[in-house]
Amino acid sequence: MPRIKKVLAVETSCDDTSVAIVDHNGFVYFCESQNQDALHEPFGGIVPEIAGRNHTHHLLPLIDMALKTEPKGWEAIDAFAVTHRPGLVGSLLVGVVTIKSLALALSKPFIGVNHLEGHLLAPFLRDAHYQPLENFNFPFVALAVSGGHSSLYKVSGLGQYEVLGRTVDDAAGEAFDKFAKMVGLGFPGGALVDKKAKLGRRDAFAFPRAMLHQDNLNFSFSGLKTAALKVVQSMTVNQLQSSLVDLCASYQEAIVDALIKKLEMALDQTKLDHFVITGGVSANSRLRERAEELAKKRGFALIVPPLRYCTDNAAMIAYAGIQRLNRGEESEDHMGVSPEVTI
Ligand code: KG4
Ligand code: ZN
Repeated sequence: MPRIKKVLAVETSCDDTSVAIVDHNGFVYFCESQNQDALHEPFGGIVPEIAGRNHTHHLLPLIDMALKTEPKGWEAIDAFAVTHRPGLVGSLLVGVVTIKSLALALSKPFIGVNHLEGHLLAPFLRDAHYQPLENFNFPFVALAVSGGHSSLYKVSGLGQYEVLGRTVDDAAGEAFDKFAKMVGLGFPGGALVDKKAKLGRRDAFAFPRAMLHQDNLNFSFSGLKTAALKVVQSMTVNQLQSSLVDLCASYQEAIVDALIKKLEMALDQTKLDHFVITGGVSANSRLRERAEELAKKRGFALIVPPLRYCTDNAAMIAYAGIQRLNRGEESEDHMGVSPEVTI
């Protein structure tokens, strides 16, 4: 039996406050998050000051809720895990200081986890309603796409992550959100663009696919955003309304094309036949459809974890943390936070 059987973890790196209790097998006993979309929507993007302030309101009630699900209370928790980088510093601080205080007061170990490592290990999470593919294991290629990050990794084991490619400008989610704002769909707009795109023609507008013919595995979405802006600015309000679904379908297709092409190149380069798509953008129905087609066509094993483990959540932080703790690692009392994105 491993030394650490259950951890309580906290994730507050951006605007979602999340708390989870997970065991060493990746079984999620509790995972609840409080999102702040409504508070940031009027500003068309995340306001760091508001995000940090609201974690303070939500975190302790969520921890309290988590503990109520454990008949033995604190006794059932062997250690703590918390995201300590990367992210908004004012947001990270709320989680880190809370977890350090609990660890000190209860004389239990704690560990700081890299948020990106959490996303990469999310495919190993399971719960009462979900079980990942049997036999899915390292090594695999991971496409992590969200509002804050878009990268391709080779994941060879715990702590063995190689960045194969990354966006050179906007993250894929950011490209969706900026477009949604441009056409008046609100924030965060990825899901709304996805919904409209289902009704439109994917070839109605010829949007650019940057870097597609380069043999590196990087993406770029800023040229696409500028191309869309030019089209939108050339339209009257009525024209925009009548071609909105076509615009959404064509814009979405340009993003998905770039992601899928580079993913396929990554699989070819690494000669791996297992892959994972994670991060908030993995909710995109067209991206899922194209990834499933790719897996089927090439006979590859694909995991897209359920959305609750793809978007920012504390269960993935708990899992990464417990694996490291059971390897004998733990963080020091003076551990800090950092916006540094390296993994
Ligand atoms: O992982 P996540 O919840 O938070 C970050 O770490 O950013 O990802 C949020 C991002 C947002 O940009 C949102 O617009 C995008 O994921 N997103 C989508 C969809 N659902 C969420 N993008 C495209 N299609 C969707 N269905
Ligand atoms: Zn994230």
